[in-house]
Amino acid sequence: MSTTLNVNGKSFTVDVPGDTPLLWTLRDVLGMTGTKFGCGIALCGACTFHLDGVSTRACITPISATVGKKITTIEAIGDDDVGKRVQAAWLDLGVPQCGYCQSGQIMAATALLKQKPRPSDDDIDAAMSGNICRCGTYPRIRAAIKQAASAE
Ligand code: FES
Ligand code: FES
Repeated sequence: MSTTLNVNGKSFTVDVPGDTPLLWTLRDVLGMTGTKFGCGIALCGACTFHLDGVSTRACITPISATVGKKITTIEAIGDDDVGKRVQAAWLDLGVPQCGYCQSGQIMAATALLKQKPRPSDDDIDAAMSGNICRCGTYPRIRAAIKQAASAE
């Protein structure tokens, strides 16, 4: 069955069942491997992408649920003004350790700042608590979100 997806502003027609998770469609069909697999059950945030601007888990999102909506992945987040600021802050503060969770962290942080340009600590906790980092980079993530917010 063919399905047309709008990924990072471009149309892609894929020939996979409609219940295929977007994560595997991105990685295995479209070759976009920046969105990571961690748990597969919406508990870690490694697979975070934006669906019409909303932070969403690609591992539990069937492609049928994305039709007609805008999919944004880490590959294009630097084209967005807020995403660019977030990436710059991440680099400046050296946030990643192993790096595995970081594309999901950046996607979640960007969605937060697009919704709340000056987030409080509680806002950051609420937006980021579903993104797990086994390396414990949480203090640097928080600092980078604040730096990106103040760089507006
Ligand atoms: S892989 Fe999707 S939330 Fe963990
Ligand atoms: S940087 Fe290693 S899991 Fe987050």
